[in-house]
Amino acid sequence: MKAIVITEAGGPDVLQLCERPAPRPGPGEVLIDVRVAGVNFFDTAIRRLAQAEVPGVEGAGVVTEIGEGVRDLAPGDRVAWLHMGFGSYAEQIALPADGVVRVPDAIDDETAAALLVHGLTAHHFATVSHPVRPGDVTLVHAAAGGVGLMLTQLIKARGGTVIGLVSRPEKVPVATAAGADHVLVSTGDAFPDRVRELTGGEGVHAVFDGAGATTFDASMSLLRRHGTFVFYGPLIGEPPTVRLSELPRSISITYPTPEDHVDTPEKLRAHTSELFGLVERGELTVRITGRYPLADAARAHAAIESRTTTGKLLLLP
Ligand SMILES: NC(=O)c1ccc[n+]([C@@H]2O[C@H](COP(=O)([O-])OP(=O)(O)OC[C@H]3O[C@@H](n4cnc5c(N)ncnc54)[C@H](OP(=O)(O)O)[C@@H]3O)[C@@H](O)[C@H]2O)c1
Repeated sequence: MKAIVITEAGGPDVLQLCERPAPRPGPGEVLIDVRVAGVNFFDTAIRRLAQAEVPGVEGAGVVTEIGEGVRDLAPGDRVAWLHMGFGSYAEQIALPADGVVRVPDAIDDETAAALLVHGLTAHHFATVSHPVRPGDVTLVHAAAGGVGLMLTQLIKARGGTVIGLVSRPEKVPVATAAGADHVLVSTGDAFPDRVRELTGGEGVHAVFDGAGATTFDASMSLLRRHGTFVFYGPLIGEPPTVRLSELPRSISITYPTPEDHVDTPEKLRAHTSELFGLVERGELTVRITGRYPLADAARAHAAIESRTTTGKLLLLP
């Protein structure tokens, strides 16, 4: 089978299409024909540091074979998955059966693959990291990006207000269409004055910042008393050291990690079925803006790193 292999640590060009031995399903596993693999910013860090042979932590496809002991799935079933190791940038993958979810008939493969990482991440942020309550005012960084668009929609659905940040004017209508109440164009740390103005000087109840180190202090300065700083940007830049006793206004800081989004098969099923339901009812929109043949994974990585993309990029093996 064909797969994208990280040939060495480096830029997008180290992603090469290679011939690999076809995987076999072990006990408790299923073999899947990958129809769509999701591209995530996370994948670019894995490539830069050569932390996997075949990258890709998300996808959707069709079960073609089941391993010993698998009872709940059969060849022909449509499934999707996230964060069960690497290997999704490939024509086939073998995965533990209890880590994949069935995809409802009403949800197509592209939507399923586009929804899992960004959707479940945003779900965790808005329901556990800072359970958004009606009236909460929030600041969402990279509001037109993969996580940002999902988060904006989920915050709005819970009755919150979203002030979105984007780096380019052409991203403003994208964040607005997802429901952002205000969208500010900012590339560095010059946004606090404008956010204070929009909040009558009060600041926000929660900041969702995946943009690295440059924005960290500015984001923190905007939290009101007992506010929550949801930080998820170490791959773009390590945050500064924070002294606990110097935290202002009794705020909380949290760093939600992917392994905690859905830490049991039951939560995986419950939360994905909630997201699929929202999509089926038209209450959550998945914005797919780039579809690339598997061989063009390098182009997809260059695009997401260029800071010009919005929504989700997909590889089609
Ligand atoms: N902890 C978790 O569970 C988790 C899960 C998924 C993603 N993440 C993190 O969430 C962030 C967004 O991920 P994503 O997959 O949804 O990607 P994305 O938002 O679709 O793309 C990255 C966006 O980050 C912004 N950005 C800010 N500084 C940047 C820089 N120096 N280089 C490139 N982009 C920069 C850009 O938006 P603007 O140009 O509009 O600012 C860019 O479009 C990433 O930091 C990712 O690592 C964390």
